[in-house]
Amino acid sequence: MIAGLPEVVAKPGLPPEVTIWEVGARDGLQNEPGTIATDTKIELINRLAAAGLPVVEATSFVRPDWVPQLADAAEVMAGITRSSLTRYPVLVPNTHGLERALQAGASDVAVFASATQTFARKNLNCDLGQQMERFEPTVAAARAAGARVRGYVSMCFGDPWEGQVAVGDVISVCEELTAVGCEELSLGDTIGVATPGQVQRLLADLSGSVPLEAVGVHFHNTYGQALSNTYASLEAGVRTIDASAGGLGGCPYAKSATGNLATEDLVWMLTGLGVRTGVDLEQLVATSVWLAGILDRPSPSAVVRALS
Ligand code: HMG
Ligand code: MG
Repeated sequence: MIAGLPEVVAKPGLPPEVTIWEVGARDGLQNEPGTIATDTKIELINRLAAAGLPVVEATSFVRPDWVPQLADAAEVMAGITRSSLTRYPVLVPNTHGLERALQAGASDVAVFASATQTFARKNLNCDLGQQMERFEPTVAAARAAGARVRGYVSMCFGDPWEGQVAVGDVISVCEELTAVGCEELSLGDTIGVATPGQVQRLLADLSGSVPLEAVGVHFHNTYGQALSNTYASLEAGVRTIDASAGGLGGCPYAKSATGNLATEDLVWMLTGLGVRTGVDLEQLVATSVWLAGILDRPSPSAVVRALS
């Protein structure tokens, strides 16, 4: 039992439980400059599942020369001990990636779209208008193979090259992803610039097109707003929150992207609000401390620092 856990004060209007979509092993590690052993990644994923995380995004089947850090995706998938209580989604950018992912035993995949032209070019090497041409066959084949499919949308709240992003542009991409067969979406604040008012405006408008129970939020914490944005999302009706153990994260193809919302910071807040997550905070902190030792730098998570 952790000393100093917050008093539980449940707030009307918030859900009794939420799903934490843990992205540390994928978003967290994809940006790491040094080599991380495949065994370390496998241990990280197993520890995150053992800490009670219901979704542990494991890796990406992208071009290995684009993201060398995750070039060992198949080995990682082969090495993990799968818990029946945990989902292990992987990123796939196209049918080639999907084939590799299915071959590696993935049953849960995610395509990743952009809300802006510049990031589509930089991250996917295609024009904005072409991204769905890739995702349509990818999602169809994934569904035909029985896989669950999430659709990410990046740059929902700001783009380092294009500046502000119109709500309508984000909603269009969400609608397109839904139309090609994505069962759930995740709204990415890739560069961590969003603020709660902006989040609530997008969610209010989006709720006219997509049920918010099928929408997750994915906040990077560059400007320290990730937790506030999460709270605003919960109030709006979102029930899935992306977070990264220890606050790791970033995108190699997005200037100024820093770490994701730290899972520990999220669990601390939700615990105090009486919202169940099923996560063992002590085990999670121990995992992030272990990983920080391997990466040789302290975790940016305030809760990890406070508890370790
Ligand atoms: P491309 O070069 O345009 O692809 O890359 P292509 O179809 O023209 O193929 C060129 C060559 O690549 C071919 O090989 C293909 O076989 C190979 P060749 O015939 O020349 O020998 N190839 C592949 N090899 C392995 N796996 C594949 C694959 N696809 C093609 N899947 C592509 C297009 C999308 C593949 C490339 O741009 C890419 O890999 N991008 C990935 C970028 C990335 O991973 N970014 C980070 C994840 S997104 C993110 O972090 C944001 C998120 O967290 C949310 C948020 O924060 O907002 C999700
Ligand atoms: Mg991200």
